[in-house]
Amino acid sequence: MDFKELRKEYETHGIEESTLDANPLITFRNWITTASENCPDQWFEPNAMILATAGLDGIVTSRTVLLKGLDEDSIRFYTNYGSTKGQQLAENPNASVTFHWAWLGQQVRLRGRTVKTSREDSLKYFHSRPRGSQLGALASRQSEKVESREQLEQIRAELETKYDGQEVPLPDDWGGYRLTPEVIEFWQGRLDRMHDRVVYQRGNDGDWTRFRIAP
Ligand SMILES: Cc1cc2nc3c(=O)[nH]c(=O)nc-3n(C[C@H](O)[C@H](O)[C@H](O)COP(=O)(O)O)c2cc1C
Repeated sequence: MDFKELRKEYETHGIEESTLDANPLITFRNWITTASENCPDQWFEPNAMILATAGLDGIVTSRTVLLKGLDEDSIRFYTNYGSTKGQQLAENPNASVTFHWAWLGQQVRLRGRTVKTSREDSLKYFHSRPRGSQLGALASRQSEKVESREQLEQIRAELETKYDGQEVPLPDDWGGYRLTPEVIEFWQGRLDRMHDRVVYQRGNDGDWTRFRIAP
C-alpha cells in the first residue's frame, strides 16, 4: 500500500464565524450535534475521542474513549481509575482530547485539567449502562496483565452468579472524569490545504477570547 497515494481534498465551505457562539462549549455542542445527525451508519460513534495523557515521567499515551457528558464548561468520560490513564491523571491532571468527524472534514481539540466526577455522578452513569457492561467493568482491572481470556470470562461468570437478581455494585476504582477546557480549537478542512482553524482561549477572568490560526 502506498500511503502517498491516499489523498483527499476537503471541499467544504469552511467555518462561518457568525455561527460561532461566544462560549466554545456551545459551539462544540452544535458541532457534535451536526456530526451525530449526519454520521454515516458504519461510523456510529461521533462521541469517540482520542484522549492523550502523560504522567510525571513525561511519557505520553493516547487511546479512544467515549464522551458521555457535556455542559457549559466541561465534558465527561468514564473509565477505570487504576488504568494507565487513571494513574497518569492522578499524577498530572492535564489532558487533551481530539474528535475527528471525517464525514464532515472536521476536527475539534480540547485541552484542560481533569478532576474525578462525584461518586453520585459515577453511580448514576454506571447504572445507566447495560448490565453486561457493568459486570464487564467489575470483572476487569483495566490494563493489568491477565493470564488468559478464559480466566477473565470465568471471573465475569462468577460475578454474574454472585449478583444474580441484585444490583451490580459500582467498583471502587471506576468512575468519571470531568475535563474543563482552557483551549478549544475548531478545524474545518478546505480546498488546497487552506483549512479554517479557530481557537478559543480561556483567560484568568474566565472569559474566552477567539482568534484564527494558520492551517
Ligand atoms: C471506540 C472505543 C471507545 C472506547 N471507549 C472507552 C471508554 O469510554 N472508557 C474506557 O475506559 N475505555 C474505552 N475504550 C478502550 C480504551 O481505548 C483503552 O483501551 C482503555 O481505556 C485502556 O486505556 P489505558 O490503559 O491507556 O488507560 C474505548 C475504545 C474504543 C476503540
